[in-house]
Amino acid sequence: MRLCIIGTGYVGLVTGACFAEVGHTVVCVDADAKKVALLRNGGIPIYEPGLEEVVRRNVASGRLSFTGSTAEGVAASEVVFIAVPTPPQADGSVDMSYIEAVAREVAASLTAYRIIVDKSTVPVKTGEKVTETIKRYCPAGVDFDVVSNPEFLREGFAVDDLMKPDRIVVGVSSPRPVAAMRELYAPFDAPVIVTDTNSAELIKHAANSFLALKISYANALSVICDAAGANVQEVTRGMGLDNRIGTRFLNAGLGFGGSCFPKDLSAFIHISEQLGYDFRLLKEVQQINADQMVRFVKKIQDTLWVLKDKRIGVLGLAFKQNTDDVRTSPAIDLCQRLAKEGAHLRVSDPQAMEKAKALLPPSAAMEYVDDMDAVAEGCDALVIATEWPRFTQLDLARAKRSMRTPIIFDGRNLFDPAEMKRLGFIYKSVGR
Ligand code: UDX
Repeated sequence: MRLCIIGTGYVGLVTGACFAEVGHTVVCVDADAKKVALLRNGGIPIYEPGLEEVVRRNVASGRLSFTGSTAEGVAASEVVFIAVPTPPQADGSVDMSYIEAVAREVAASLTAYRIIVDKSTVPVKTGEKVTETIKRYCPAGVDFDVVSNPEFLREGFAVDDLMKPDRIVVGVSSPRPVAAMRELYAPFDAPVIVTDTNSAELIKHAANSFLALKISYANALSVICDAAGANVQEVTRGMGLDNRIGTRFLNAGLGFGGSCFPKDLSAFIHISEQLGYDFRLLKEVQQINADQMVRFVKKIQDTLWVLKDKRIGVLGLAFKQNTDDVRTSPAIDLCQRLAKEGAHLRVSDPQAMEKAKALLPPSAAMEYVDDMDAVAEGCDALVIATEWPRFTQLDLARAKRSMRTPIIFDGRNLFDPAEMKRLGFIYKSVGR
């Protein structure tokens, strides 16, 4: 099929590349001329494992192309995807201006029937608004359908999540686009759930909020485990093996960050309020997440007493493993809190150092270290802030030899407490 994807951010670019990979012809549209030029020349603006090869292969085969013109993209395609940002506003609501602007642009470009699919995470009833907007701005007599088709990909695993989805959600307000949507997704081996647009939109916020809730549940348990001398990993494993619960997204730690969970939670709380429901449960999920960071910093302070002029090594800046994304990263938040107390930081990350520099400018008290095994050198403590698997391969003997005092604060529970004790570290993790 011939597809157009408007917006080449994480969701748009990965979606476009993966649709091309399964044989569709895809043109990606972006308003940023520099980005379009970069992509045309084989450059990838984000770090995402596997993406570069997929993009390169499909550009070479002619199935994937890039343009700055919405009209060109819409003219060339049967299905038009909207994958532009829906950033949060100060009050937690969602800024819908990009979606609205694209809806108007698409409307002005319509000359014949098109299916217009919303991929961005949006408040319930957005499909209705997009339909109204397109009707208002499109040429008289042109027909179209608006479909909600939320994306569930995780950064760092985006290509895999897209190629092997758990389910495909298709929200429609008429039966007409269903066959095309099924054909579009036929190459993917996943159940397709066809529902109304409002339900489809709610599925996305409901799913992300539930995953955040699972993490906050594990984090709340970690507080009890710390107090009771139990091990939260044992507790969540024992719980999670009940297949009604599941073991995933029950890792206690520094809390969740990134561009999705914090934003989607605030948005869902706001949407619920507007619909007349005070979603107190989700407010508590947010609060537990915020408390988790405060508690971890206190753990560091309780041990080191005064942070001013202490040298602290920090491993991890990205908001999670496998990404260079530092947006709403708990690791960055932690560094900022330690720096505010006057600590001197030596930081490192396998991918996120460049992006982190904008938020944590390098200085004598904020040292960026390329060699991860050298981060601990001369430090009073080492902190693990992101769950990169690479950190488990750290040269711990070297770290111990080179540290002023062998203290590790593991905010992601990567190491085994008994083993760390055996190696001679004072080791503090979360809920163990
Ligand atoms: C999330 C959803 O998983 C995805 O389906 C949706 O489309 C977008 O939002 P993403 O934000 O990329 O994806 O990352 P995810 O892997 O979900 O992790 C989010 C945050 O939760 C990270 O900060 C991570 O460190 C944290 N996390 C995750 C935990 O603290 N514990 C866990 O058990 C899992």
